[in-house]
Amino acid sequence: MVTLPNTYTALDARVSAFLAQEQRLLIGGRWLPAHSGETFTTYDPSSGLPLAAVPRAAAADVELAVQAARAAFDSGPWRSGLSPLERARLLWRLADLLEQHAEALAQLEALDNGKPLATARSVDVPLSVDHLRYFSGWANKIEGATIPVNEKNMFAYTVREPIGVCGLIVPWNYPLLMAIWKIAPALAAGNCVILKPAEQTPLSALYLARLFEEAGFPPGVCNVLTGYGEEAGAALVDHHGVDKIGFTGSTEVARAIVKASVSNLKRVSLELGGKSPNIVFADADLEQAIHGATWAIFGNNGQSCTAGARLYIERRVFEDVVEGIAEKTRAITLGAGLDPSPHDLGPVISAEQLARVTGYIEAGLRGGARLVTGGERLGGVLAGGYFLQPTLFIDAHDDLSIVREEIFGPVVCALPFDDPAEVLRRANSSEYGLAAGIWTHDLRKAQRFAAALQAGTVWINTWGNTEAAVPFGGYKQSGHGREMGYDAIQLYTEVKSVWTYYG
Ligand code: NAI
Ligand code: MG
Repeated sequence: MVTLPNTYTALDARVSAFLAQEQRLLIGGRWLPAHSGETFTTYDPSSGLPLAAVPRAAAADVELAVQAARAAFDSGPWRSGLSPLERARLLWRLADLLEQHAEALAQLEALDNGKPLATARSVDVPLSVDHLRYFSGWANKIEGATIPVNEKNMFAYTVREPIGVCGLIVPWNYPLLMAIWKIAPALAAGNCVILKPAEQTPLSALYLARLFEEAGFPPGVCNVLTGYGEEAGAALVDHHGVDKIGFTGSTEVARAIVKASVSNLKRVSLELGGKSPNIVFADADLEQAIHGATWAIFGNNGQSCTAGARLYIERRVFEDVVEGIAEKTRAITLGAGLDPSPHDLGPVISAEQLARVTGYIEAGLRGGARLVTGGERLGGVLAGGYFLQPTLFIDAHDDLSIVREEIFGPVVCALPFDDPAEVLRRANSSEYGLAAGIWTHDLRKAQRFAAALQAGTVWINTWGNTEAAVPFGGYKQSGHGREMGYDAIQLYTEVKSVWTYYG
């Protein structure tokens, strides 16, 4: 039985029951321990306390899951028997179930990831529900084209077919939501899926596995394997029976995935990191820009692939804007995921990640950058967790690691600029290209920047918006392919061209 600090919100009865049970993998409609019998522990990053032991899937479990998914895809009812409308209904039913279990899912997310329960309730779970409903709508609208061809008495058309078995490997920053971003379009298009959550946050995926079953997906269509990236994840990527890998995570692992995928040239789509530039012009509504820039980086503790981590501010307003952001940053409150008193942020995900982020802070200081606020780990009642003050730097050179590399924590550098051409060049001089932001009243300037910024998403006088209907993904080393919207359907389908001669 888990023992949590008595200062936490009382657990939902479904969460207590879930945590009291032995956790199993979902493979081919069966609940199985890992073949090896081994488990690993997932921890509450707010307290460092263990939450649950979960199966440590490895190659043998991947083998079983691939067999089950292959059988469901190649000869099961999913592809041939279930109509598109029935697939749509199943996804809608899954969305309804997520809604019915919203509190349990939000609590699991708050426990396993550390984010405030209020955030999990208002962001992670409802966005997951929206996403499922949006892609439920696509299931019976995946159309081909009829194409005029030059040859006489010839007729050509296209159909979009599911790719097959998809291995979906997701990170820990929005565990449920990142899983749903992939599951929803994959299933809408008629694929079978094997979900591999991050080892830091396996719980919401295991809970979701129960909802797959309750929704009535045929056995083998949805499989869930908890395990380490180098074991279960790598085995999925290596497997010849897997037709596609959908991955969100680090650029480093993405490179390993691309290399491993060459054996059977499986399709790979990648949502990776970033070091997104956020540009504040002097003519912006500065109050809006200050608020926006603060949350662009500190939202989800900087643990967002789109974090606005390079903050360029026009020199004539630099001091005012930095002071405004510093004031807002000092007012940010931290607390345990299930701490019932209102707070803005939780801990970073793990001791390892805390060490990584503080390593960057130290490198920044050594490199001559100056701290305006933050930089310290929190002690007192929060000493058991991985709490780090939101951290704002100035006086950082463009070539420092804190300016160039993805930190994935609550750290930002404010950098002054003098003119538009200069800031555009600096904004684009990154190996990443996930997102970018511009704050200005000048619509022409905003549109010129929107056109010239090398980023998959550009936000103008706003930051961080994502919706199921709007494509999302990266330029350059921030990824391959676009999730969300019809682009995601394309990501999970193959196109077949059919020619007919009628002469
Ligand atoms: P990671 O990329 O190692 O983990 C993401 C997922 O990939 C997890 O499910 C993990 O188990 C899996 N994985 C790891 N190695 C694998 C392999 N060889 N084959 C197949 N799957 C594998 O990220 P990690 O280590 O948790 O975080 C390190 C850094 O990565 C962060 O500091 C951040 O910079 C970046 N990151 C970026 C994310 C994003 O959304 N862009 C999400 C998570 C991490
Ligand atoms: Mg955990």
